[in-house]
Amino acid sequence: MQAKEQLTEMKHFVQRLFTDDITGHDYYHMERVAHLARFIAEEEGADSFICEAAAWLHDVGDDKLFPKPVVIEKELDVLLQQISLSQQQIRAIKQAMQDVSFRKGKTPKTLEGKVVQDADRLDAIGAIGIARAFAYGGAKGRPLYHEEIDNHTIQHFYDKLLRIQGNLHTTTAQTIAEDRHQVLERFLEQFYQEWNYTLKNG
Ligand code: ADP
Ligand code: NI
Repeated sequence: MQAKEQLTEMKHFVQRLFTDDITGHDYYHMERVAHLARFIAEEEGADSFICEAAAWLHDVGDDKLFPKPVVIEKELDVLLQQISLSQQQIRAIKQAMQDVSFRKGKTPKTLEGKVVQDADRLDAIGAIGIARAFAYGGAKGRPLYHEEIDNHTIQHFYDKLLRIQGNLHTTTAQTIAEDRHQVLERFLEQFYQEWNYTLKNG
């Protein structure tokens, strides 16, 4: 099987698993991360096939999205065996997938892991990142913002999103992040302005 067909098989697998997601981890998140990862890999001289494959699959079996991750991981193993990848390619894809999560706060060991982690983090900032954060907060029943409690989505900007720009591994991702980071800052400024609008003008 050609590399292009192998990637198409992975894409179809992901399409089936993530179509109904409403937490900001839908199929289009996987598509954006896959395309970004390929672009960053080409710029950085990483293995673009491994990066794109791991990016398509990076949220497969995530325990916050799947109630039974073990079942999904077995399905993934079957897929990877079926599409005539070498054992070395399978190991590299799985290593990069494990390296991705920013929740677990690990630094990837391989360049491919770094590329995919950067691609995933870039999709958490900018306009789409903002939309995803509120989708996630909404799906978890959290308020947009609250003056007395911390468990609101604006808090997530301070906990994670504003820190992404300074923690990217590749210069290609750092360049893409500049605009996106500014969008976060402008959004917060405007948000507070509107929040306080009636106080100042009422
Ligand atoms: P990972 O899948 O790498 O572990 P996360 O699950 O922490 O990463 O984040 C993935 C997406 O979910 C990001 O867009 C992030 O902003 C969003 N997200 C995660 N936690 C929260 C939260 N507490 N509030 C709002 N959005 C969140
Ligand atoms: Ni992701």
